Amino acid sequence: MHLLTLENLERKDIENILNDAIYFKKNRKSENILKEKTVALIFESPSTRTRISFDIAVNELGGHSLTLNTGETHVSKKESTKDTAKVLSRFVDVIVARVKEHSTLEDFTKYGNVPVINALSDLSHPCQILADLLTIKEHKNKLSGLKFAYFGDGNNVCNSLILGCAIMGMDIFVATPEGYEPNEKFVKMAQQIIDKQGEGSITITNDAIICAKDADVLYTDVWVSMSDKNKNIDEVLKIFPPYQINEKLLSYAKKDAIVMHCLPANRGMEITDEVIDGEQSVVYDEAENRLHAQKAVFKYIFSK
Ligand code: CP
Ligand code: NVA
Repeated sequence: MHLLTLENLERKDIENILNDAIYFKKNRKSENILKEKTVALIFESPSTRTRISFDIAVNELGGHSLTLNTGETHVSKKESTKDTAKVLSRFVDVIVARVKEHSTLEDFTKYGNVPVINALSDLSHPCQILADLLTIKEHKNKLSGLKFAYFGDGNNVCNSLILGCAIMGMDIFVATPEGYEPNEKFVKMAQQIIDKQGEGSITITNDAIICAKDADVLYTDVWVSMSDKNKNIDEVLKIFPPYQINEKLLSYAKKDAIVMHCLPANRGMEITDEVIDGEQSVVYDEAENRLHAQKAVFKYIFSK
């Protein structure tokens, strides 16, 4: 059982993960799910929240974590992913990896024989979205039926949000500049989930105001991601500002709307200081919830 994207999860699975996460949040060191287990935490790119929350999650679940940063192993340099996966599988019980290219994670699953968890790739960020859904549930007491509005770049976080929100029956609106829409495969999968469940909707637009109108949740992420090597910064600065979450855009949403950002944020770019520091912002709950949601992910993986 791996967690590379959210596509193989049913609504019941996510509900179970969120309920377990709520339990773990109330009972910090309550279960030894990872007793005598070692978890490799591989980071090909920088991380604050993901690395810290995974390290603490493993330790609080009674396991041992081994953080492997770029340059400290031969992976992606001197040695093939295939050989790394085969060797690591002899030593550790789980591989958690943040990779530059999603195909590296697929190779870990193909050649290794231990569970693999995506800690962010260029394509998706499933663990982030489980923490986000937990945060929305805590603040809104429900998920299905809410209007979820995403602004900015149709990136890895956006791709995973689309799937997670579709599975949970939410009305998803995504506003991006033309040419920066989310991955078509993810939009199609979300639509198929919505059609199958007969609940929720997905609207991809270039109009930030349509997106913000009467929203329950407003979400944004950086305009340039770690994996964006060829983005033209001058063009980004010219065409992304209408998608900034600021007080004006927020005024179109419901009065009790919450504002989310996976962090790290470029304050003054995709979100203003006033909004991210304002009363409607839940960004630090969201960051904390990474820990609780990831514990629930370990429980889910080892129950399969
Ligand atoms: N949100 C998130 O994944 O943050 P880090 O890059 O700090 O891990
Ligand atoms: N989209 C961002 C998310 C960071 C957590 C990136 O990939 O850099």
